[in-house]
Amino acid sequence: MSNLTQQQVLSVHHWTDTLFSFTTTRDPAFRFENGQFAMIGLEVDGKPLLRAYSVVSPNHDETLEFLSIKVQNGPLTSRLQHLTVGDSIVVGRKATGTLLLANLTPGRNLYLFGTGTGLAPFMSLIRDPETFERYEHVVLVHGCRQTDELAYKQQITEEFPANEYFGELLSEKLIYYPTVTREPFRNRGRITDLVRASTLVSDIGLPEISAENDRAMLCGSPAFIADMREILEGLGMREGNSSIPGDYVVEKAFAERA
Ligand code: A2P
Repeated sequence: MSNLTQQQVLSVHHWTDTLFSFTTTRDPAFRFENGQFAMIGLEVDGKPLLRAYSVVSPNHDETLEFLSIKVQNGPLTSRLQHLTVGDSIVVGRKATGTLLLANLTPGRNLYLFGTGTGLAPFMSLIRDPETFERYEHVVLVHGCRQTDELAYKQQITEEFPANEYFGELLSEKLIYYPTVTREPFRNRGRITDLVRASTLVSDIGLPEISAENDRAMLCGSPAFIADMREILEGLGMREGNSSIPGDYVVEKAFAERA
């Protein structure tokens, strides 16, 4: 049996000329934990061309959703960006990844820090009631260059709170903090700077981030991950994984996708 399945595209949404998302059918046997990624892609010249994509949709959904950049000369995304309803994509049978609730030690607040499409795994995690059951507050910090790249902003603020399954918990515990670096917006600046200067915690009214109280998940560009790691380690936080839970976890599979 092949380790790949063919799935059909059900919808496509273009957020900007460099960012889009799409939903597909889901193999009933495809199981994943919220926060994980799968290998997905297209058959090119009879061979699968695959990249790691975090699943945006929660594991209780019957369909799958993915968020992608568009790179004009990128081997995969130059093709993927032209997907239309009814097209086939290939999806790996196995999901994996480090951004799991179980990889973190207990804490008071959970910070989800993502840049660009690094938001994707957190979209799945904030629709999981367990995320909220484990923490007093869940702080979703999404950093982008421009406001139109703040994908899912309207869903997070308007649709999700009304969801009958997780809406009440989300309304009570989720603090959504979008920030933009290259144009005016109510929250401005790089996530790293907002954390270092304590602007983030003062804006949301929580105490300084500490190893004692707080846990974090990171997903984004390698430079962002490196800088955030330094900040968190500097606070005495230790990285966790599936063998030893820690104070923060990082998605390493998130490469510069092209
Ligand atoms: P900036 O506009 O200052 O580069 P990209 O689209 O390049 O992946 O960036 C997404 C967001 O991540 C942008 O707001 C960008 O800010 C920010 N960013 C890029 N590198 C870092 C970093 N090393 N630390 C924190 N934020 C970063």
